[in-house]
Formats: sequence, C-alpha cells, structure tokens
Amino acid sequence: MDSSHITLILIVSTLLYHAIRRYIFFRSYPPGPRGPPFIGAAFEMPREKEWVTYDKWKRKYGPIVGLTSFGQPIVILNTAQLAQQVLNGRQNIYSDRPPFPMLEMMGFLDWNMGIMKSGPTLSLARRLFAQEFSPSGAAEYSDVHKEEVSMLLKRLGEEPSRFTWAIRRFNVGLILKIFYGLLVEDKEGHDDFVQLNDHVITATSLAGSPAAYLVNTFPFLKYWPSSFPGAAFKKDALEGLNLSERLVNAPHETLRERLARVDTLHRRSFLGKQATLQHGPDTELHQKAAHAAVATAYGAGVETSTSVLLTFILCMVHYPKVQRKAQADIDHVIAGRLPSLEDKETGKLPIIDAIVKECFRWRPPGNFALPHKLIQDDIVSGYMLPKDTVVMSNVWSILHDENEYPHPMEFNPDRFLNDKLQADPRDHVFGYGRRICPGRHLADRSLWLAIASILACFDILPERDEKGNVKYPTIDYTSGVMSRPKDFHCIIKPRK
Ligand code: HEM
Repeated sequence: MDSSHITLILIVSTLLYHAIRRYIFFRSYPPGPRGPPFIGAAFEMPREKEWVTYDKWKRKYGPIVGLTSFGQPIVILNTAQLAQQVLNGRQNIYSDRPPFPMLEMMGFLDWNMGIMKSGPTLSLARRLFAQEFSPSGAAEYSDVHKEEVSMLLKRLGEEPSRFTWAIRRFNVGLILKIFYGLLVEDKEGHDDFVQLNDHVITATSLAGSPAAYLVNTFPFLKYWPSSFPGAAFKKDALEGLNLSERLVNAPHETLRERLARVDTLHRRSFLGKQATLQHGPDTELHQKAAHAAVATAYGAGVETSTSVLLTFILCMVHYPKVQRKAQADIDHVIAGRLPSLEDKETGKLPIIDAIVKECFRWRPPGNFALPHKLIQDDIVSGYMLPKDTVVMSNVWSILHDENEYPHPMEFNPDRFLNDKLQADPRDHVFGYGRRICPGRHLADRSLWLAIASILACFDILPERDEKGNVKYPTIDYTSGVMSRPKDFHCIIKPRK
C-alpha cells in the first residue's frame, strides 16, 4: 500500500469517526438547528434581536432546543415549567457561568458578579447582597426611594422632553446613594455619573451576546494581534476596558473627595456599613466582594430598571385606556397625596402591581436572562446534556406564551387583576437558582413607586404632527443581553 492510500484511509476513517460521534451525540441531544459538522449552528445564532430567532426555534423544535456552536453545546429552555424545573430545581449543578471572552477583555471579570464563575468572591458578594437587600432590608431604604422619586418628578416637570435622561438619572441616583452613600449632583443637566453609566452600557451591551463577536465563539482570538486584519473587536474591547475601569473607580474617587461632607449618608450606605465591619483574615476577600457588589449594581442594576421604566412610558403612550384607568384608581384610593411604598405594602393599589408585572412581561429587560453553565452531565426530558453545556431560558417566549397569557403582544395589566391571575413574570425576569438577581426586591420597590408617582402627577401622551395628527412612537428595542426601548419621543405634562 503506497502512502497516498494510507493518507486516504486515514482521512476516511477520521471523517467516519466524527460522523459516528456526531450521530451518537445528536441522537440523545435536544432537537434544534444542526448546521455543518464542526461549525454546527454557529452562523445561525442571532446577532441581533435574539428573542425573535429563539421564538422561531421554539415554535419549530418545541420546549427544549439544543444546538452546538463550534463544538460548544448550547441548550435553550422554552417553557416556564422546564426553566424552573432545571434552573431552580437543579441549581446545584446549573449555577456556574460560561466564559464571556469579550466582556473579560473589557475587564468585567474583575468586578462584575453577573459573569463571575462560582467561587469565594461571588458567594460572599451574594451573601452581602442577601443580608442587606432581603425584602425587609430593602424596605429600610424607603426614604431614599421617596427622595429620589420626588427628584424624578421634579425633573420630569422641568424638562419633560428629556425623560430618558431623567429616568436613568433617577436609577443612578438611587444606586449611588444606597450602595455608596453618594449624592449625585446635576451639572447643568449633564451628570458625569449618568453619562458614564450610559456610555458603559452602550459600549458593552452587545459584548455579552454569544454571537455578537467572533471572539465569544473562539476565545483564542483574544490573542489575535491588534495590528492584524480583523482585529476591530480589540479596539471595542479596549474602549470597553477604559469605560469599565472608570465605572468601577469613579464613585470611589468621588467618595474620597467628598467624604468629609457625605459622611452620614455614606455610613448608612451598603459600602459604608461594610467598611465598619471587622473581617479579620478575610478583609481582602470582603473588600473585593463588597466592591464587586457595588460596581455590578451601578452597571446592571441601573440599565435593567431604566429599561422597565422606559417600557412603562412607551406603553402609556400606546395604551391611553390603561393610563386613565390607573389614574382613576390612584385618585380614588389616595386622593390628595402622592403614592407611598406603604400603599404597595398594604396592597392599596393593585393596578400598579399589575402594571409593573405587565411591563416586565411585555418586554423583559433581559430576553434570555443570563446564560448558566452546567457543571456535570445531566438528563433533561430524556435528552443528554453534557458537562459545560451553556443553558439559557427563553424568557421572552415564556412570557409571550399564548396559553398562559392570552393575546400576549397586547399590553394588558388586567390579566393580573381580580380572578384573571396569570403567572407572575417576576418568576422569570429576575433569573433563576443560585444566580437569581439579588437586587430584585430593591428594583421592585423603586419601579412601583416611580410608576405610581408618575401616573399620579403626569399625563403621558403621543406627539402630534403639524396637521394635528397623532404620532405614535415606534416600538423598537435594542439587542443584546439587556434590551431597552430605542429612543422615542412623547409628551409628558402635569395633570390638571
Ligand atoms: C428591573 C430590574 C432588574 C432585572 C429585570 C434584573 C434581572 C437580572 C437577571 C435576569 C440576572 C441574571 C440571573 C440569572 O443568571 O439567572 C440578574 C443578575 C444580577 N442582578 Fe439584576 N435585575 C434587575 C435589577 C437589579 C438591581 C437594581 C440590582 C442591584 C441593586 C441588580 C443586581 C444584580 C446582580 C449583582 C446580578 C448578578 C447575580 C449573579 O450572577 O450571581 N439587579 N439580574
């Protein structure tokens, strides 16, 4: 046998070996787009508006979808029952995170709890969060919520056309006060911290999406020289790194500068309380965990809540009947004063509870929560999921399931009122298991108070063109791990 025969036999047997392996793997793997050998469905993974593709796959393949991207198994859970059964029920093996190469290049791994692997820093950061922001812990910050909501109302009254800025400003103000004890100052309407937060989110929101950057599929590209062709992502990574360093450091620098003035505020903040605790040999770990907690809150906590409030404004423009009904309820129940968090606690305004839930359901800020990583082989619905599978919940499709939420595209808070009790979207929008959002109680309270107060004080209306015709804003959302309405216009004016 000559060498060309041997080469041919080697090639054929290698191909055969891979074909058999592939056949065996996919025989017990969930159905889904397959793509060519080795590449898999890498090029079918959506780069934009991920929820649209994931929903199509759900309709085509059913409750559980499995694909591979250059050998990386990825599974999408499409029903509420499966997501809860797997990500909550088996949280001991489904709570790690896969690598996020682009975000890691942007320095996020050092401080962002959302992408940290399981380990001592994450466990401690989560414990600190849980101690401080349990439902009763979050209630201790009610006065901060009240102060910041009244500032929000003032800004909306003064500059209604800048409502997007006012809303982000509100969320930044809340987080900086509660977590750092920092009072953010407005400088001619342009606040450094608000701008910084906006820039970081804009520059990095796509970086966490699996298919948005090739380096997320091929982590070795991290080492691709910046001078070689195709290295544009390195420029984005560097920009992200500079911004994320500023996001982490700027509040601490300002705190140091202002400490003499803001001492009381700082002492009762999350960071201030941590500084007074004695941690003995664990001091370094403790500091790292506390700093991760505050930086993640300033990054992710602001964007998610901003997204929900913008969704609320957008829906009030498009659904005036909902707005009028809610205002009538508020006027009837608490005539002559502003809504308070006590009204929430005593269940006085169920319509506001329902609007908050419907905003979460209609457009969840995270359409697929954040990906989890499986740490050992497991069987789900009879399918074999190998160790290291990336597992995502298809939150958007779960919350638009016609069987649970009839007419799901319609914004209809009534679905959560009276006897029409449909499943609570908060069981999904805040994620699952050991990675469930630790800021959820805080977020729930601030959103409730902001929404109730805006409705009590303002009418939210569509703009009109020069002929007086109503101009409804387009409903369009940004892509990426976190999604929010794209810029739109409307009229916000004090109620008569
Ligand atoms: C509308 C508001 C919010 C939504 C919808 C939201 C949603 C989420 C989701 C989906 C996750 C990932 C959960 C998972 O992997 O299963 C998450 C993680 C996280 N959220 Fe939130 N969040 C919100 C507000 C906040 C706020 C206000 C804070 C801080 C004050 C916060 C802090 C965090 C942190 C630290 C993590 C990382 C947890 C981990 O990976 O272990 N979030 N959030």
